[in-house]
Amino acid sequence: MARVGIFGAGWVGLVTGACFAELGHEVVVRDVLPAKIESLRRGEVPFFEDDVPELLVRNRDRLSFTLDPADVADCEFLFVCVDTPPTASGDADLSRVWTVIDELPAVTGNPIVVMKSTVPVGTGEKVRAGLDERGLAHVGYVSNPEFLAEGKAVGDFMKPDRIVIGSSVRADAARVASLYASIDAPIVQCDVNSAEMIKLAANAFLMTRISFINEIANVCEATGADVVMVAEGVGLDRRLGPHFLRAGIGYGGSCFPKDSLALKQLASNSGYHFQLLSAVIEVNELQKRRVIGKLKRHLGPLRGKTVALLGLAFKAGTDDMREAPSIVLASRLLAEGADVRAWDPVASGGSLPRGVEIVDSVLDAVRGADAAVIVTEWPELKELARDEVRLSMANPLIVDGRNLLDPEATRRAGFAYEGIGRPTSPSDVLPQTPEPARSEA
Ligand SMILES: NC(=O)c1ccc[n+]([C@@H]2O[C@H](COP(=O)([O-])OP(=O)(O)OC[C@H]3O[C@@H](n4cnc5c(N)ncnc54)[C@H](O)[C@@H]3O)[C@@H](O)[C@H]2O)c1
Repeated sequence: MARVGIFGAGWVGLVTGACFAELGHEVVVRDVLPAKIESLRRGEVPFFEDDVPELLVRNRDRLSFTLDPADVADCEFLFVCVDTPPTASGDADLSRVWTVIDELPAVTGNPIVVMKSTVPVGTGEKVRAGLDERGLAHVGYVSNPEFLAEGKAVGDFMKPDRIVIGSSVRADAARVASLYASIDAPIVQCDVNSAEMIKLAANAFLMTRISFINEIANVCEATGADVVMVAEGVGLDRRLGPHFLRAGIGYGGSCFPKDSLALKQLASNSGYHFQLLSAVIEVNELQKRRVIGKLKRHLGPLRGKTVALLGLAFKAGTDDMREAPSIVLASRLLAEGADVRAWDPVASGGSLPRGVEIVDSVLDAVRGADAAVIVTEWPELKELARDEVRLSMANPLIVDGRNLLDPEATRRAGFAYEGIGRPTSPSDVLPQTPEPARSEA
């Protein structure tokens, strides 16, 4: 079993640390935030992610947390899991990566720096040169990008589709592969540049599928087709598969938006205009705003109207609000003069613009509201179309940004219903009565 040092106690670093400890390795996790380290030492996880708390408890003897980089000096592997947010130009900000390299302690033996942070192609070569310049030629370098998805991060780490290991030194790649020996997954062993590109390309492809199905949804709306049926029919084609074909209000989160920008910038810095990716990004931005048009179609001008935003996290299963569509929606609604109430079961809503009222329950959010918008596909919202919700709303309109509800059942329950890419019945617009009307369909 190996001794593993991890820089960064965020989603990737903490999940990596907890999972390696579960696999039997000795793990030291280092972060720069004292409050985070203190809460981890108390056994508290600083964000919402299933299974991580249990792993921390079960493996507490093999896991320690520190602020001091010197505590990883005797580790055989030094995983870099720090954040790489976008700069103003859209390039990835690698300053935290370089801080880690600058702060590497006087390491003993021949450890390997393992890059798990998502970085532009070419970063590994620069870090390798940086290590050499700092007199650390004996320290290895391997790219090992992470593909976990928040909300099911532990499952993704323990049962990955593949493990990508990029290195120019075969022995270093083999050492990193040995850390994962008890995980049953194909290993893609390649050069560092290709490993870096695999991560960026995989994310870009997933985003392309999302923007593609969202555009199909918009055409469905214009032509009377139902994107849910279309996606099912398309996804059953084995050449295409069903994943990431769910139409909605666009992707968000800490990875897709920044990684798409970083890849677009990387291409353009290299003299190539990545047209398809530019379109994917633009479609996504427009998609987040389409809800406003749907609300106006039902309510007219939104000034003075109360809109309940249900779900704030960028997706269900996490409290992460980075680049969440809820932020754009809330800002647009406030700009239109609407009163905005917001609810989420776990996200705090701290990154919403000032002026949004954050409430503790779905019922508090919809009370007296002119519309309820499903922003995050939380399972509890599947029960939204019920009497107590309808009766407490000023106007029983549901805009379902995630196609979570059954349109017919929702209409039968007395709501006007708008999904994404689903036919709207004319009587849905500006309904006069909350009474169920079977003839609507
Ligand atoms: N979140 C995801 O779903 C996900 C999935 C795959 C890959 N990634 C990539 O992994 C990287 C990390 O993402 P994340 O979501 O875990 O980020 P995060 O923001 O949740 O966590 C990063 C952590 O690094 C810490 N940190 C910053 N500088 C440090 C330093 N010098 N030493 C030690 N710690 C330091 C921060 O305090 C923070 O706790 C990013 O490049 C991201 O693109 C993220």
